[in-house]
Amino acid sequence: MDLRPLSPALGAEVMGLDLSRGLAVAERDAVHHAWLEHGLLLFRGQDLDEAGLVKFGRNFGDLEPPPASAERTRAETRGAAAPEVWIISNVVENGVAVGALGDGEAEWHTDMSYMAEPPKASVLHAKEIPPSGGNTSWASMTAACRALDPDLLRRIEGRKANHDSSYTAAGQLRKGADSVTDVTQAPGAVHPILRRHPETGEEAIYLGRRTNAYIPDLPVEESEELLDALWTHCARPDFVYEHVWAVGDVVMWDNRSTIHRREAFDAASRRYMIRVQIKGDRPV
Ligand code: OGA
Ligand code: MN
Repeated sequence: MDLRPLSPALGAEVMGLDLSRGLAVAERDAVHHAWLEHGLLLFRGQDLDEAGLVKFGRNFGDLEPPPASAERTRAETRGAAAPEVWIISNVVENGVAVGALGDGEAEWHTDMSYMAEPPKASVLHAKEIPPSGGNTSWASMTAACRALDPDLLRRIEGRKANHDSSYTAAGQLRKGADSVTDVTQAPGAVHPILRRHPETGEEAIYLGRRTNAYIPDLPVEESEELLDALWTHCARPDFVYEHVWAVGDVVMWDNRSTIHRREAFDAASRRYMIRVQIKGDRPV
């Protein structure tokens, strides 16, 4: 396999692997190593069904099931397909959305960080793509951490943040959740704002998502101001790789060291992706 960097900040394209054939041990180790080094890997021209995506994901650990709020949609529409697979789609069948995130913008986030032990990786495979729009961007939080100005660094050292579990990155209230009126009461998980990567040892900014985030022990206005300053820094264009999707793309990213966002696309077009998540550890 060959590697081609995708941007100065993060990401590499892996060439010469047909993922449907499965990975030999040496290939698996090479992919794992490249993924840690680049934060994101792109494999073009793949054709995996749900079982094939599950098999690929399992090379790197046990899979994390989709959240309970997504499972219901899936059960209503998809019957007994692989339960580990989460559909990310705007497609509506018989009046029911077959997947998550719709056609709107999905704000900057890292996946499922409202869990105590969020998934270390997500793997997204494009099956249907609109003619334009719906690009996804990733930003390196290790690069953002290295570039923090000393004043901002001093203000977050030793601090934690609550990662709200009520809303999706697309701003939809999750099934079974109540809307948040007071960020200090938002449900979710509290994680350190700076985390050390358990495999590379590198430090990264770990923010989850902006909506309803809160830094415990600070007055709300101060928490809001600090979070805004951090998010402005983290979304700096020099930390970002923007991906224009093609059918067959498989993108595997590290949720511990990157964030991502998706732009909106035309509601009249179809976008259909399948995703698996790989279990991770408690951020420290
Ligand atoms: C995701 C996600 C972005 C997209 O699957 O975690 O944020 O491009 N998707 O649909
Ligand atoms: Mn996501």
